[in-house]
Amino acid sequence: MEYFTTTSKASKRAADCVIVGVYARNKLGAGAADIDTSSKGHLSALLKSGDISSAPGRCRILTGVPGVRARRVAVVGLGKFSKMNSTIYKKAVAAAITALDGSKTKKILNTLTLEPVDGTSPYYLARHSVEAMGDTLYRFTEMKSGRKKKPMPLSSYGHSIAKRGDAAKAARGAQHGDGIAKGVSLAKDLGNLPANVCTPSYLARVAKKLAAGNGKLTTKVLNEAEMKRLGMGSLLSVTAGTAEPAKLIVMQYKGAGSDKPVVLVGKGVTFDTGGISLKPGPAMDEMKFDMCGAAGVIGTMAAVATMKLPINVNVVVPAVENMPSSTATKPGDIVKSMSGQTIEVLNTDAEGRLILCDALTYSRRFKPAAIIDVATLTGACVVALGAHRTAIMSNNDALREEIFAAGDAAEDRGWPMPLGDEYAAQLKSNFADMANIGGPGGGAVTAGCFLGKFTDGMDWAHLDIAGTAWKSGARKGGSGRPVPMLTQVLLARCGALP
Ligand code: BES
Ligand code: MN
Ligand code: ZN
Repeated sequence: MEYFTTTSKASKRAADCVIVGVYARNKLGAGAADIDTSSKGHLSALLKSGDISSAPGRCRILTGVPGVRARRVAVVGLGKFSKMNSTIYKKAVAAAITALDGSKTKKILNTLTLEPVDGTSPYYLARHSVEAMGDTLYRFTEMKSGRKKKPMPLSSYGHSIAKRGDAAKAARGAQHGDGIAKGVSLAKDLGNLPANVCTPSYLARVAKKLAAGNGKLTTKVLNEAEMKRLGMGSLLSVTAGTAEPAKLIVMQYKGAGSDKPVVLVGKGVTFDTGGISLKPGPAMDEMKFDMCGAAGVIGTMAAVATMKLPINVNVVVPAVENMPSSTATKPGDIVKSMSGQTIEVLNTDAEGRLILCDALTYSRRFKPAAIIDVATLTGACVVALGAHRTAIMSNNDALREEIFAAGDAAEDRGWPMPLGDEYAAQLKSNFADMANIGGPGGGAVTAGCFLGKFTDGMDWAHLDIAGTAWKSGARKGGSGRPVPMLTQVLLARCGALP
């Protein structure tokens, strides 16, 4: 895809389509006003007669508008002018792309970047436009037989800017949006693939493939024997019941010499049956998404590599399948983690923390500038925050604030949750150093506290994405979150934001 920015008028541009916006009460957006003038009132007439709607999310494609060079004009509703915001903006871009999908559109100019969107800069307007387009055009058809619908042959996507001085910023926004969209798309694919395809070995192959031919990126994969030698008894206890080999995937991206890396650790349970503490039947298929932490950090790595960011980032993915069998770990079994601490496995369904703790201990060798783990860790997190926000916990207030702010800027939002000794006390065990569950109250927090016992001395944050990583229901599928949030943290850290 080629991205461009332009200060030229919407009516003058030779594109297959220009996207313009209209507000309630017959108010025209900047692009629409220009089209209206050059077509001698065509748009305002259609608006007044009710043939085009100003409701957010509505779009109508007009062809052959007089006085306009572009073959199509996509007119999208933006709602009330005073209520215009970035959510409506993204919805409008998505509506236009949806309406165009299926047409033979190759070149689009989006003029919505000219609208005042509560203080959003040209950088973010262009970026969110490209991200929204990626989200809208995403399809997961790999597992369907039969002929697949051809994607729209789009090759060029442009954004209108008001002044020349904004060109570089908007261009960078589009470029970053492209990198994030690629990462999100990869994370969605990995989430959506079924567990009989997306195994730990499959994740390892994807990570290796990303590094192939990239001089800045290397991938190393540890097998079970190597993990055993490292003393990862906790991680290995989760894979005890399955024939599917576990993997520890380690990716290193070097974009900034000898700087300390940001380390991203992603839960990669490629299927979570619960193990001997078997889950109930309904919606168990959704536990194929229990590797979305892994998908999120690998997707973020893909975004970083695409953008060639000047930063050092490592990704560590403990990848396992959690199954019951005669060799599976049993409730009450005690295992020894790589840190030396012993754990009483009171519930084999609290397996995410058992693999993450060893991955966190392993990551110490990198002397992280910050370490962030990402996991579909607890049903309790979904109870607390629903499907809208990712839970953010940290042993460092500044790091938690940093991630929170990044989520807002990237429009991939989180919300802070506490940690603390009073919660950690719920993990006491009569027989081992700790239990792997903390009782009925505050389940997302006690899970965070469990991980906190393995991060002493590191600046660490934990993201529970149990509610945000995928959608259930008719539009079931991976969301690609929190790739935008994590990428934003890295963009900000390496000074790549305008
Ligand atoms: N992968 C699940 C958490 C989960 C459940 C995420 C549903 C999204 C939707 C995790 O491994 C798990 O089973 N957690 C248990 C922990 C409990 C046994 C302390 C849970 O949340 O029930
Ligand atoms: Mn589980
Ligand atoms: Zn799980």
